[in-house]
Amino acid sequence: MTIFLNGSYMPVEEAKVSVLDRGFIFGDGVYEVIPVYSRRAFRMAEHLKRLQHSLDGIKLKNPHSESEWMDILHEIIKRNTPEDQYLYLHITRGVAKRDHAFPNPPVPPTVFVLSNPLTTPSAEQLQNGINCVTVVDNRWLRCDIKSIALLPNVLLRQAAVEAGCAEAILIRDDAFLTEGAASNIFVVKSGKLLAPPKDNLMLPGITYDVILELAAANGIPYEVRRVSKAEVFGADELLLSSSTKEVLAITTLDGKPVGNGKPGTMFAKLYPLYQTFKRDVMRK
Ligand code: PDD
Repeated sequence: MTIFLNGSYMPVEEAKVSVLDRGFIFGDGVYEVIPVYSRRAFRMAEHLKRLQHSLDGIKLKNPHSESEWMDILHEIIKRNTPEDQYLYLHITRGVAKRDHAFPNPPVPPTVFVLSNPLTTPSAEQLQNGINCVTVVDNRWLRCDIKSIALLPNVLLRQAAVEAGCAEAILIRDDAFLTEGAASNIFVVKSGKLLAPPKDNLMLPGITYDVILELAAANGIPYEVRRVSKAEVFGADELLLSSSTKEVLAITTLDGKPVGNGKPGTMFAKLYPLYQTFKRDVMRK
């Protein structure tokens, strides 16, 4: 496995980062996850735009131009064997004496890119859907930043795993839906797709955008607005989206069936649309 670290390509075993790295000490950094299908990065420009948003959010200068990023990502894709990969990009504020305030003058950021094989959901998950639990969204107020400080998300996902579930659905203020621990969540009611707004309380998902674009292009009614906790529990269907999971049906919530407990008609429409879209984009 070949990775990129601070300007060089090397085997992952040779890659070393200082213990004083602010990513290690403070979680002071941001990341991206980009799926690669048949050696072509999916929605690369959109992911790089979101990376810029995250870097702006933590006041860290982008270490590379868009064309430099594209060269690095293409090189990493080429140097790794799987046809389908996911790229992990990770940028921290660099190595400095431990002090909460930013190093002054700034130090060079740490820039790391990894490729892993992309495993999309299993046939069983596609056929039967997944189990989820609701949890309290106890994260900060800048969930639009793709921060590497993921301890809240880690603990929320672990709560799901310990409940025998694949994902946690996050409810803020005991009142409304935000997203999943590492995914976006849609509610389906009476044939309409309901999507929480891309505000400071959720990550603006790239897959989320694809889903809403597909809905718009295919005459599927949808609404972007706050979705109440009651609407989550009263849903006909619940759907999850992310770069690695694509789109999945959630068929049980807190141990009870969602709708009739099987992937529903909205999932049956969106899944093939997503697959066709993916193939079309990859062919271009
Ligand atoms: N996570 N919300 C959160 C909190 C996420 O971590 C993710 C993705 C999403 C979905 O965003 P996208 O469609 O752009 O992947 C929403 C990635 C896959 C991860 O952390 O591995």
